[in-house]
Amino acid sequence: MTSHNRQWLLRSRPKGLLQMNNLELVNGNHDVRPLKSGEIRIRNLLFQCAPTMRNWMSEPSNSLYRTIDLGTPVQALAACRVVESRNSRYPVGSRIIISSCWSEYDIIDVSELSPKFIPEGISAIESVGKLGINSLTAYFGITRIGQPRPGETLVVSGAAGSTGSVAAQIGRLKGCRVIGIAGGKNKCDWLMNECGLDGAIDYHTEDVNSALKDHCPNGIDIFYDNVGGQILQAAVDNMAKFGRIILCGQIAAYNQDGPAPAFSNMMRLIYGSIHMQGFLYSDYLDDIPKALNDLTSWMQSGDIITRLDVRSGFENLPSIFNALFDGSNQGSLLAVIDDDAHALA
Ligand SMILES: NC(=O)c1ccc[n+]([C@@H]2O[C@H](COP(=O)([O-])OP(=O)(O)OC[C@H]3O[C@@H](n4cnc5c(N)ncnc54)[C@H](OP(=O)(O)O)[C@@H]3O)[C@@H](O)[C@H]2O)c1
Repeated sequence: MTSHNRQWLLRSRPKGLLQMNNLELVNGNHDVRPLKSGEIRIRNLLFQCAPTMRNWMSEPSNSLYRTIDLGTPVQALAACRVVESRNSRYPVGSRIIISSCWSEYDIIDVSELSPKFIPEGISAIESVGKLGINSLTAYFGITRIGQPRPGETLVVSGAAGSTGSVAAQIGRLKGCRVIGIAGGKNKCDWLMNECGLDGAIDYHTEDVNSALKDHCPNGIDIFYDNVGGQILQAAVDNMAKFGRIILCGQIAAYNQDGPAPAFSNMMRLIYGSIHMQGFLYSDYLDDIPKALNDLTSWMQSGDIITRLDVRSGFENLPSIFNALFDGSNQGSLLAVIDDDAHALA
């Protein structure tokens, strides 16, 4: 049993970007107690940096899904190694992906959970970064809600990110003309030159509404939205008849107080016969094996490429997390806190 356990506690609710004074790094004794029956002790190896964690840090009224209580560790999805076990399904040494917290060690009662095992032969980094929640989200959003047909025009916001880049490439594989919206020339060049998109709009330097008119003269058939705000408004203004809007995320609103704002002019949806649907990847749990099968084969064949942005240091977690919001992350943002995250078994 470990005697130390560093943790990042949430001390106050951020206004805007997460600041160091919203957190406290403690060398506490939380979760160093002996295990009860059914519990496992895990060593966290890496954390996925998910934008929605910023919502969990907000007031309960602003976080519809979950809220991190003040004085408790920041919750996060982690890949981890079981280091002590009182549950025969999860022996010492197994590697799993589970909801944990910014803590070096954690105790989990797995009796009512079904954490995903990391298969032998792939690292925790690859399992979370390439075949993790973001790729599954992109897969279900595009295939189940977008239902793309060859020749249709798909526009993806946040297109150079972890979720967006996979969504855009699945659309391309399904025969769509794909236009990505991203921040900066480097990201737009990557989308065009490496991901094979048909067009890219740099929202830092271009007027998105008029750029969409240029790129999509017949309107947008499918809009996959990771961003919301002005970008969603511009897309709504350019939707084609019978278009589909896939609401995946609203990252532009996560650092603002209050609920994410809607776009104006609902009549566009009526006159355009437009279908708009929000979703969570977890709506499709039964379909995950097929999704992983498809994603794995597309990635192995090179039909879909992914970028991992792997950073390290437990003490750096807050600044690593904030890279999601200044756009400096180049693909799936992972915070590695133990070199064991590179191991293949
Ligand atoms: N529905 C679900 O089940 C589900 C699951 C996973 C993720 N998501 C959502 O998917 C979206 C992408 O998440 P991810 O983990 O893949 O992150 P990501 O796209 O890899 O990284 C976030 C990117 O968002 C862009 N961004 C940040 N602030 C922005 C702003 N104010 N306006 C416009 N763009 C901004 C930045 O790219 P630029 O440099 O291009 O601005 C940044 O690199 C998020 O909205 C997330 O909540 C939803």
